[in-house]
Amino acid sequence: MDASLFSDRLHSLLERADSIAVLTGAGVSAESGVPTFRDPGGLWSRFKPEELANVDAFMRNPDLVWEWYTYRRELIAGVQPNPGHVALAEMQTLIPDFTLVTQNVDNLHQRAGSTDVVELHGNIERSFCMDCRATVDKIDLPASKAVPRCAHCGGLIRPGVVWFGEMLPDAQLRRASDAAARCQLFLSIGTSGEVYPAAQLPGLAREHGAWVVEINPRPSSIAHRMHECIEAPSGVVLPLLVDVFRRSRLSA
Ligand code: OAD
Repeated sequence: MDASLFSDRLHSLLERADSIAVLTGAGVSAESGVPTFRDPGGLWSRFKPEELANVDAFMRNPDLVWEWYTYRRELIAGVQPNPGHVALAEMQTLIPDFTLVTQNVDNLHQRAGSTDVVELHGNIERSFCMDCRATVDKIDLPASKAVPRCAHCGGLIRPGVVWFGEMLPDAQLRRASDAAARCQLFLSIGTSGEVYPAAQLPGLAREHGAWVVEINPRPSSIAHRMHECIEAPSGVVLPLLVDVFRRSRLSA
């Protein structure tokens, strides 16, 4: 594949847009070796979210839930950002108004060099106390299978991620919505579009006049809200897209 597959409109926005917003989902990390949730063989085909990803499950069996997050933390620690993550980090350095919004908790955007990432679903490397809300950095956590206890109050330490039934962090959601509403180009990358409110961002961007592009090997459930769908892996498409972007920005 090459950049000739991009529409003329996308080419001209890559050359001239002053404001770009990006939403990523699990698919952007797939080429790093992190399983997605809803693809065949994905996490939700092997594990039950109702047993692992909500507060009732945690209260019922905190050790089991903790162990599942330890497994995911270890898996993520053993992989590297892929060319898609790296391309997005470079894009940020070439345009002042660039917002990267992610549903991923894997920290791979940050490890690739992206800064100020809007984390809609939290970050697996952070934890906090259920009782006193004190945050715990990963380096303070014991490498035990059992859920740790808070050093201040003895409460249960839980992963700093958003579970089903929980509200998204207000400030992050506001930043994401503001960026979608003001950008000229919105990229929706590697997300199935099954989970709201993240899935409403491409539509919001479109209503406010942005050109909205999906990058995903298979059309998502919100593909009909896009102006353009590039059906290929993000680790292939994003470096090509950033090439066009870089050449026009550096020669301007
Ligand atoms: P999903 O697993 O629902 O969707 C992953 C998407 O990535 C699918 O549409 C795939 O087609 C696409 N994909 C796979 N490989 C790709 C590649 N190489 N390049 C680009 N796209 C690729 O993941 P999300 O949409 O992120 O929530 O799921 C949203 C939320 O549901 C997650 O944040 C998580 C989950 O339950 C919480 O944990 C709160």
